[in-house]
This record gives sequence, structure tokens and C-alpha cells, in this order.
Amino acid sequence: MERGNFRSKLGIILATAGSAVGLGNVWRFPYMVGENGGAAFILIYIGCILVLGVPGMVSEFIVGRHAQANAARAYDKLSGGRPWRWVGYLGILTSTIILGFYAVVAGWCLQYLYAALVGHVNGSADYVRQYFVNFSTHPWKPVLWGVAFVLVTHVVVARGVQKGIERVSRLLMPILLLLLFILVVASCMLPGAMEGVRFLLMPDFSKLSSSVLLDALGQAFFSLSLGTACLCTYASYFKKETNLTASAGQIAVLDTGIAILSGLMIFPAAAAVGVSPDSGPSLIFITLPNVFTQAFTPAIGYVVSIMFYALMVFAALTSTISMHEIGTAFFTEELKQPRNRSAWILTTVASVLCVFCALSVGAVDIRLMGFSLMDFCDLLTANFMLPLGSMLTCLFVGWYIPKKVVVSELTNDGTLHMPTLLQRYFLLTVRVVCPLLIALIMLHQTGII
Ligand code: PHE
Repeated sequence: MERGNFRSKLGIILATAGSAVGLGNVWRFPYMVGENGGAAFILIYIGCILVLGVPGMVSEFIVGRHAQANAARAYDKLSGGRPWRWVGYLGILTSTIILGFYAVVAGWCLQYLYAALVGHVNGSADYVRQYFVNFSTHPWKPVLWGVAFVLVTHVVVARGVQKGIERVSRLLMPILLLLLFILVVASCMLPGAMEGVRFLLMPDFSKLSSSVLLDALGQAFFSLSLGTACLCTYASYFKKETNLTASAGQIAVLDTGIAILSGLMIFPAAAAVGVSPDSGPSLIFITLPNVFTQAFTPAIGYVVSIMFYALMVFAALTSTISMHEIGTAFFTEELKQPRNRSAWILTTVASVLCVFCALSVGAVDIRLMGFSLMDFCDLLTANFMLPLGSMLTCLFVGWYIPKKVVVSELTNDGTLHMPTLLQRYFLLTVRVVCPLLIALIMLHQTGII
């Protein structure tokens, strides 16, 4: 079967960055920073990206581009049928679970975009809070918006790699960046905004919570789409001239830059109206609508809120597309089904999970180990499945596949210059440093050591 490919270098960067940049940057990162004491968390986060994230990304790229196949087959091909195939399965499972709960929040954003357009989200602080509580615990509204989001994702993915994924990423990513810049400027120009900027940029280590390492690690992996086989699947559509190390570096910089800019969009505006930034996941659905009403004139507040929720929807869509593509590519190649039919399989599974997650937020009491199903899926994937997937991939690339293959992928068959020292550094990181650090953090934070 003919495989798709990204058409251009820019398309590769925008699609992969589109996967990385998502609600993880504009929703999860700001509330994690808010809950974990601001700049101190950001420093640890950046450390995780540099030491563990970038080598992890390059490892997934190597597996995907070398094998030119869906995640499960890619690991299989490079290991000659050994059980490594399960790392691919793990990635496909993880990304499908993420799609299920992520679509719930993406659906909220879609609903808030609609509400912003028709002017429903401005009012007193009590009204805005009640609005969110009523909506998120409603028995069918969040379900409908979440499933609608999965269906929009389906339409893009079913159109294929170039006509669907690449085209939408090339359109939405520049718009997203433009909206973000405008909103950052608007937020930082408000009187009293500097307090928020300080919170974001001046570390206060006394505010760090005990679970901060695992939280920062989970957030870094979630934000880079690491450990889900997503990067591996996208890399299977890369060109053979693509510089894997440079691409990983560019995407990590873009992703981290956008996360910090999102903080600069949210915290200064919150500080300007005296709202505390540590309100957790509801930050952008309760705190921000208040900020929009209080900080700006009604006309500007109206435009700003539409721009903000449009940005959220675009960011979420380029990410849900990538989660969907992992499973779709798998079913297309393994079950030899037409792309559209495989996409339907994934859409159905993700929609069912999305329905249960949406209900667990308030309408129905669905709990696992004391957490609502929604929070359980979030914690399970970000703090355990992603680090585990990435750790196994590092071990696979570092110890299992021949060094010759690794070097030939890093240097594009010797056509790219990469200093031997850097190659050695990469190998040392994926063989020892990444697996050890990830294992230590996971064991420590779960109280085992
Ligand atoms: N990286 C995405 C974000 O930051 C989420 C994601 C996770 C996408 C896993 C694909 C796979 O929102």
C-alpha cells in the first residue's frame, strides 16, 4: 500500500509542532505553573525538556523514519519480531486514551468559542463560575461538544497526510502564533500586569510541591507528545533529507516558547484584575472569562475572548489530529483497511471514551482509584504511560538497534555532519541517562524509593 509523506520541510515542522503545541501548552502548562509556584517549576520543566525530552524525540524520530511504518510495525521491523512491538502497542493505546479525555477539554473550548461569539460568557464572577459548573456537569452538552471535536478531527485525518494533516497544520499554526502574540501584548499592557510577569519569571523555590519532579516530567513529555508513538508515526512521513536532531531542537524550542508565551498571556491579565493564578484546571474557563470582562472595555473584551478560545480550539485540533493519526495509520496498515474506515474505528473508540470522561466530570460518578475517570486518564497517561513509553524507546534505540542504523539516521547516511562527540553524547543519554532518570523520578514520586 502506498504510504503518505509530508510534502515540504515547513510542512514537517508545522505538523509536528502542531502535534506538540496544544492544550498542554495553553491550558495544562499555565495551571501547572500556577499550582507549582511559578518560575521554579518552569526551570525544572526546561531541564526535563533539554535532558530527557530532546533525546527522547530524536529516538522516536529514528525508529519512525527508519522503519517507514505505523508505530507497532516500526518497532517490530527494527527488532525482527521481538516483543518490542509492544512498545508500539503501548504508544497506540496511550494516544487513544489521551484523545478520549483531551477531546472533552477541546469540546469545552469549542463550546466556549461559540459562547464567546454569542456573548454568553460575560457577566459577574458568580455567573461565570456557575456557567462553567452548569456546563461541565450537564448530562449531555459536554458529551456532544467532545464528540463533535472527535468528528472534526476525523474529517481532517481521513483526508490523508498531505491533504488533511499537513494542509490544516500549515493553515492553523501561523494563525495560532499571530493570535498568541496579539493576546500576549494585550495582556502585558494592562495596568498591574507586571505582578503576573514576575510570578512567571522570578523563581520561588519555597513554593515547590513535593510531587513537582514527576509533574514537570509528565508535563514535558505530554507537551512534546513524547512516549505516545506520535512522533514515531509522524517521522515515518518525514523525508530522507530531514535533519532529525535539528527538527527535534526546533520543535522543542517552539513548544517551550509557546508554553511560556501562554503564561505571559494568562498571568499578567489575571494579576491585573487581582485574580490568583493557582485555580487549577478551571483557570481558563472560570478565571479568564472574568479577566476578559473586568480588564477590557466590553467591545475589546468580546474580541479578545473570541480570539482566545479560537486559539485554544486551533491548538487542540492540531494535537488531536496527531493522536488520531497514530491509530488510524495502525489500522490502515495492519488490517489493510481503507484509510477512511480505519479512521472510523479510531473515532468510535475515542468517542466512547470521551463520553465516559465527559460524564465523569460531574454528571455521573465514574471513579477509578479515587479519581474521576477524566483525572485518572490524565494522570495515568502523563505521569506513567508517557514516561514509560519514552524510557522503553530510549532503551530500544540505545541498546537494541544496531549503532550503525542510529548513526546513519542521525547523519542521513553520512550526508550530514554531526560531530562524533555529539553522537557519543546522544548514545550515552539514551542508553543510560534518560532511562535511569525517568525510572528514578517515577519510583521516587510514587513512594517506592
Ligand atoms: N502535545 C500535545 C499538547 O501539548 C498533547 C499530545 C500528547 C499530543 C500526546 C499527541 C500525543 O497538547
